[in-house]
Amino acid sequence: MRGQTNMVLDDVRAISQPLALPNGVVVRNRLVKAAMAEGIGLGGGTPRKGHSNLYNEWAKGGWGIIISGNVQIDSRHLASPHDLTLPSHSSTLKAYTKLASTVHETATSPLLVMQISHPGLQSSSTINLSRWPWEAAIAPCRDRPTVSDGPIGWIWSRAVWPVKSRQIVKSDEWLEIVKKFIDGAVLAEKAGWDGVQVHSAHGYLLAEYLSPLTNPRPKPLPNVPDYIPIRLHLLYLILKGIQDNTSKSFIKAVKINCSDFVQGGIDEKQATQIVKTLISWSILDIIEISGGTYSSPAFASPESIKSPSSTSSRSTRQSLFAHFTSTLLPFIPASPNGPAILLTGGLHDRNLIVSSLKNKACDLVGIGRPACLYPHLPSKIILNENISDEQARFGGYNIPGSKLMKFILGGSDTKNSIKLVGAGISTMWHEWQLCRIGRGVEPDLNMHWLKGLIVEELWYEVILGLPVKLWRSWT
Ligand SMILES: Cc1cc2nc3c(=O)[nH]c(=O)nc-3n(C[C@H](O)[C@H](O)[C@H](O)COP(=O)(O)O)c2cc1C
Repeated sequence: MRGQTNMVLDDVRAISQPLALPNGVVVRNRLVKAAMAEGIGLGGGTPRKGHSNLYNEWAKGGWGIIISGNVQIDSRHLASPHDLTLPSHSSTLKAYTKLASTVHETATSPLLVMQISHPGLQSSSTINLSRWPWEAAIAPCRDRPTVSDGPIGWIWSRAVWPVKSRQIVKSDEWLEIVKKFIDGAVLAEKAGWDGVQVHSAHGYLLAEYLSPLTNPRPKPLPNVPDYIPIRLHLLYLILKGIQDNTSKSFIKAVKINCSDFVQGGIDEKQATQIVKTLISWSILDIIEISGGTYSSPAFASPESIKSPSSTSSRSTRQSLFAHFTSTLLPFIPASPNGPAILLTGGLHDRNLIVSSLKNKACDLVGIGRPACLYPHLPSKIILNENISDEQARFGGYNIPGSKLMKFILGGSDTKNSIKLVGAGISTMWHEWQLCRIGRGVEPDLNMHWLKGLIVEELWYEVILGLPVKLWRSWT
């Protein structure tokens, strides 16, 4: 009994260890609330009351770092109709400043990092209604995202992306995108945020630029030193621009795939090279490792996909991406001499978190889905010495009604199933839990998926949210 108590104390101590980043900032413990689109508010825009309530709960929960959901740098290109954006208006700075104060004014005051993002090919004009249906998504290529090979996949992709993407060919247009990312970081710093994370994973625009599948023949961009590989020009200009325009203590992070998990996309070997090159620039404080794209969304359920080189079910359960980081970490300088490695995906119990830290699979642990159900997960469970390791397990729950919805929408586990549907069903349900916290209501583990759709999405977001959206866009 005493031995068990000591083990819990040791585990809690290991997770509570502070970590110094290369810029000198110290993270108070190893737990990071991973980036999750909050699903609050229709039509994109700046943070609202619901965001403040939600972030206030997370801030009181004992996290070392809170990373925001993706904040889109271009309001016309959204990943979901609820995305936060950065409109060029005086109220924007005020709204983000208010959210940062909400977090920093709590007694535990975690670090707050804004994830800045562009969904590229993945942005649908028909779902988001942020541009005309015939206005294309932009990307380094003209492809329409692959949904699946079957007839339902064909219908899905044409409904969601009625026109092919528009290929960006002119350097000037890429440079405008670079500027928008830098402006986003500058605004975040002015608003009192502690840093930004540049979203370069999950098949979004910056990941598309890196991938040989979506950018087979990258062209050099201006003002980039010769030694930078052409495929990394876009990311270099963005990260260098952020470094030059923000202070040293402002955290610079990137989220990157260890593999796209699609034929012809980035594989682990290429990803290793990319990460090593990123480290050599000495710009970054944190590199987060994720994986997958929306046609193969490993990041949405990492426990469901087998790692190419993992044979034991335990290592698959631990984190699909841990295999990648464990081989990488011994070859890179440990933080604070190099960036901290943040590993996210399936790390849903205390034992796994501790073993990932002790086995040097990561320096920081990102937690996504459970943070939607348990906003105070660190203080109440993971770092609570009175909770045994057996009790400190917080994943593996079922979403009521999700199997039926997957079947109806073509996402069941068949040959031509639409993986995006399965990922979307889980993501939406978790976002509805965030909406509940934003409304001041407890999350509901037993909420049926259809109830979530009708109550949280249709009633609160669309029916009550539409007048607010129209008012906000008019003013
Ligand atoms: C509701 C929801 C929204 C998400 N939104 C984002 C996002 O905005 N940006 C991002 O990089 N990842 C996003 N993700 C992926 C998570 O950051 C994380 O990588 C994924 O959930 C795996 O971690 P987990 O197994 O701990 O949930 C989202 C996941 C969920 C469940």
